Amino acid sequence: MNRTLSVKHLLGIKDLTKEDIELIFSQADEFKEVLNRPIKKVPSLRDVTIANLFFENSTRTRLSFELAEKRLSADIVNFSASTSSVKKGETLVDTVNNILAMKVDMVVMRHSAPGSCLFLSKHIDAAIVNAGDGTHEHPTQALLDAYSIREKLGSLKGKKVAIIGDITHSRVALSNIYCLKKLGAEVMVCGPSTMIPKHIQSLGVKVEHSLRNALEWCDVANMLRIQLERQEVSVPYFPSLREYSMQYGLTKEILEGLSKKVVVMHPGPINRGVEITSEVADHTQSIILEQVENGVAIRMAVIYLLAQTRRTEKEVV
Ligand code: CP
Repeated sequence: MNRTLSVKHLLGIKDLTKEDIELIFSQADEFKEVLNRPIKKVPSLRDVTIANLFFENSTRTRLSFELAEKRLSADIVNFSASTSSVKKGETLVDTVNNILAMKVDMVVMRHSAPGSCLFLSKHIDAAIVNAGDGTHEHPTQALLDAYSIREKLGSLKGKKVAIIGDITHSRVALSNIYCLKKLGAEVMVCGPSTMIPKHIQSLGVKVEHSLRNALEWCDVANMLRIQLERQEVSVPYFPSLREYSMQYGLTKEILEGLSKKVVVMHPGPINRGVEITSEVADHTQSIILEQVENGVAIRMAVIYLLAQTRRTEKEVV
């Protein structure tokens, strides 16, 4: 297997080949073994400095990247927009250039603007990792989701995955669709018609509006949060959260009434009692905490492989 990625940055799953994804998974397998040792650390990135730039709130992604970087022995700096000079009007490029002047090799960035990571990659000389850019992509989430399905079901090929909820506003949905399709899974999106983009079938996915039909079809149900923070409209996309929950909320009774054991996933943060009940979140068929655990190994793999690409490029120059 080729041991280098075909990309210099991780901007989105759309840019990756199937071989890139398989390489990331194979590298994550090795790092998962490291994470199960008493000393969960390797010296691989002792010469690498990484800046984590979070212009939007995050719990899982931010902690997971920070832990992944520490496990690889990288030097890290953390930046949060809410306590920075962005509040005084400094631009994204000026902010990042100031950080890069401190000799940073890699930038992990979350930003509310779709395309912000692509924009940055054209303006600065550092490897960029997209940690979620608006409604566009969240590539490491999709990688850890697909990796967790592979771990649970053995392979992605031919598996049926239903992504249920607010597809329109979800970067997790788009990255998951690209990733699952590249790995040979069948994908269905399910939700109210106001939350399903009009031309989504062009990505090769099925569309279903009935939760029960979607659940009877799938092997895996990835339950998404309603992205209220991205619904900046005067007329809401559904009458109320209670109504949404009645139509699309996954309960223990529905899950256990299905004809097969469906694996339940959720990228977090969970709104317990809206898209899934507490009983489902904590159910034996739920792999939500396995997703979080796998996130560290996947992010270690992504950072390590991008750093390898950068080292190789520097040697050639
Ligand atoms: N899944 C995810 O991106 O969670 P955070 O917003 O907490 O990082």
